[in-house]
Amino acid sequence: MLKVVVLVSGGGTNLQAIIDAVNAGTITNTEVVGVISNNKNAYALERASKAGIPSLCISPKDFASRAEFNQALLDAVNDFGADLIVLAGFLVVIPEMVIEAYRNRIINIHPSLIPAFCGTGFYGLKVHEAALEKGVKVVGATVHFVDEGTDTGAIILQKAVEVQQGDTPEVLQRRVMEQAEWKILPRAIDLIANGKVKVIDNKVVIK
Ligand code: GAR
Repeated sequence: MLKVVVLVSGGGTNLQAIIDAVNAGTITNTEVVGVISNNKNAYALERASKAGIPSLCISPKDFASRAEFNQALLDAVNDFGADLIVLAGFLVVIPEMVIEAYRNRIINIHPSLIPAFCGTGFYGLKVHEAALEKGVKVVGATVHFVDEGTDTGAIILQKAVEVQQGDTPEVLQRRVMEQAEWKILPRAIDLIANGKVKVIDNKVVIK
């Protein structure tokens, strides 16, 4: 059984997609053992509590130094006994000590087709604003492993979504979530839980 800890900051629709997929049996061999938010008002925490999943809030604001926050975050995932950390809209940079301790065991969902519209400053609605500003006709989402860079880790799954005339950032964001994020994030967890994902030469091979 893969023990998954999900890190969130906001609405938690990706967390919900994971919970629903575990309940529906489309994610197998997996238990969501904990949810951690940096934001005590995140609706994601409510979703965790409705699903009976233990959750806690760990915010950099509540610690005297970043080093203390880093240690608290690492302690929390260790205490949950995590095999896999899933970043589902988590907007805090993951400390290097956590990346080192969980090498190739942290995945992130990003709302673009990496390497487009990713890296520092590209998160949430900003990604979709930039895509519409550029006028691209195809967008999408990516699930990737987390390394020391921003959105630079090995790509696990991607799914494309078409831009439509008259899209606003909000409308496009919702379509990317529905058609891509909520599908490929649960799918990636199921693949990992069933030993089908290998990293070779910094690239993912799916068996
Ligand atoms: C999602 O669109 C996710 O891809 C994005 O934040 C949103 C969180 O929504 N993540 C990033 O931009 C990370 N760089 P949710 O809380 O409803 O899952």
